[in-house]
Amino acid sequence: MTAFPHRHLLGIEGLSADDIRFLLDEAEQWIAFNRGRRKQDDRLAGLTQVNAFFENSTRTLFSFEIAGKRLGAQVANFHVAASSVKKGESLIDTALTLNAMRPDILVIRHEQDGAARDVAAVMDCPVINAGDGRGEHPTQALLDALTMRRRKGRIEGLKVAICGDILNSRVARSNLKLLPMLGAEVRVVGPEMLLPKDGRLDGIPAFTDFNEGIAGADVVMMLRIQRERMEEAVAGSLGDFHALYGLTWERLRHAAPDALVMHPGPMNRGVEIESSVADDPERSAITEQVENGVALRMACLDVLTRDRR
Ligand code: NCD
Repeated sequence: MTAFPHRHLLGIEGLSADDIRFLLDEAEQWIAFNRGRRKQDDRLAGLTQVNAFFENSTRTLFSFEIAGKRLGAQVANFHVAASSVKKGESLIDTALTLNAMRPDILVIRHEQDGAARDVAAVMDCPVINAGDGRGEHPTQALLDALTMRRRKGRIEGLKVAICGDILNSRVARSNLKLLPMLGAEVRVVGPEMLLPKDGRLDGIPAFTDFNEGIAGADVVMMLRIQRERMEEAVAGSLGDFHALYGLTWERLRHAAPDALVMHPGPMNRGVEIESSVADDPERSAITEQVENGVALRMACLDVLTRDRR
């Protein structure tokens, strides 16, 4: 494969295993590049990249901004707090306004499921979904796969346990699509009320007992409790989440002896993960996920804009 056969990157849904491998392979060169002293390429020179983030973000927004700048794009960030969204403008009107300014690529994060797809339908440029509600977060799943492939040498046959708030997590949703496509054995672990019942888990083993769920896992991926997407009653009835579902050294012993610990961030230390586990450089890949995220996003920006240069 020499080109990415899609106009947008809206989700893992719709991608083939070859499309995914192509993006991961393209990202590899940028990891080495980003470790060099001079981190400036010019392949996006003259192109305008708009980052429209309607939800809070630290690593995803910053990662897309740095990725675009390292490729030479003009990067403009749309700040929702200071925008006309606060004056009641609809998402589509905002999108049409941004489109009229002729961006060459749009990166969007929004609290509504399907927002990226709706916006892509009215844009004249490629759109990357940087997280839509409980929908998808494709670049996160791709950078997770890149991190696993680099640390474990493969994805096929890996036992991956995704743990915590599966129901509200777009990271889980995208990973649940991507990882089985590349041959990983995925299972989910979490309290009953945070496991989706909509068929998303068809064929995926689900565990409510943490130790049983991570038994023998090669990768333990922890997720944050997304209280902002929960009914208050559910959030209030979670009780002592750490006592039952927090990843501690004691619990990690149930996973494979060399199990890799991952977390997309932001972490709530002492809730879903014990600090010393998160900070252990041998076992935790959390900062590598962030590093690989910049490279992966450079690959996405590059391949989606090839026909505009
Ligand atoms: C995640 C997100 O926004 O979906 N964060 C991220 O992009 N790294 C996960 C989360 O918010 O818990």
